[in-house]
Amino acid sequence: MRILITGATSGIGRALSLDYHRQGHELWAVGRNRAALAELESRGIHVCRLDLRQREESLAWFSRLHDQGLGLDLAILNAGTCEYLDLPVFDSALVSRVMRANLDSMAVSIEGVLPLLRRGTRPQLVGVGSSAAYLPLPRAEAYGASKAAVAYLLESLRLDLYREGIAVSLVCPGFVQTPLTDRNDFPMPCRVSTARASRIIRRGIGRRQAEIHFPWRFTLLLKLGALLPGGWWCRLAQRMIS
Ligand SMILES: NC(=O)c1ccc[n+]([C@@H]2O[C@H](COP(=O)([O-])OP(=O)(O)OC[C@H]3O[C@@H](n4cnc5c(N)ncnc54)[C@H](OP(=O)(O)O)[C@@H]3O)[C@@H](O)[C@H]2O)c1
Repeated sequence: MRILITGATSGIGRALSLDYHRQGHELWAVGRNRAALAELESRGIHVCRLDLRQREESLAWFSRLHDQGLGLDLAILNAGTCEYLDLPVFDSALVSRVMRANLDSMAVSIEGVLPLLRRGTRPQLVGVGSSAAYLPLPRAEAYGASKAAVAYLLESLRLDLYREGIAVSLVCPGFVQTPLTDRNDFPMPCRVSTARASRIIRRGIGRRQAEIHFPWRFTLLLKLGALLPGGWWCRLAQRMIS
């Protein structure tokens, strides 16, 4: 397969890139970290240093790939970040930053990869959201909102791309051990390794699953929690965080 992965320089994206490369697939890795990109390149992976928040520059790179005649069979749009709000200050700049990194970058990436996927064989578009979008979590106003928006974006796109034969999958991880979660200062139940996350995501992609969520014990609890009336969940959450 010809595979493009964003956020390939670290964590989940890096594990996916190395695993697919080991299996003999041709990879295009997108990220910002020069050293990490050079290391991927030394393994024979095509790399591109892009800040996906920069729309024009990013679309110009995708369009160069298109002009070169490239087609993609799989695009995994995984680049993202996480920042938490700390009240009493409600920092709207933080909200904008997170929306830009998670939602706007995803939209730019979709615009860039769609023409390439239209040339692919059994093409598949995969976006990484988060199980945080299943129900409201404390301090996750910005992150959860960005991932809820990503989920809606992809689920809506799935309907519109169906007739073209482009499958759309949404990945909703629980906690995965990466530099992103290493920064967290709270307990992270059921945190899994990047190796395990990569295995589960690749299996779900192979099955063309609409939604890939894991670890299932954790994500199932969140899905059940989301069925509670808002007031009940609020009171339960107070007990859990106090
Ligand atoms: N880890 C978890 O527990 C967890 C749980 C749920 C969802 N997720 C989601 O999974 C995805 C990967 O997270 P991770 O844990 O693997 O985090 P990570 O180790 O911090 O990796 C994030 C990746 O995204 C790239 N990236 C971020 N902003 C970018 C931008 N503006 N332009 C280009 N690349 C950018 C980073 O590139 P550089 O490092 O090169 O800047 C890096 O490769 C994210 O979307 C995250 O929200 C993670």
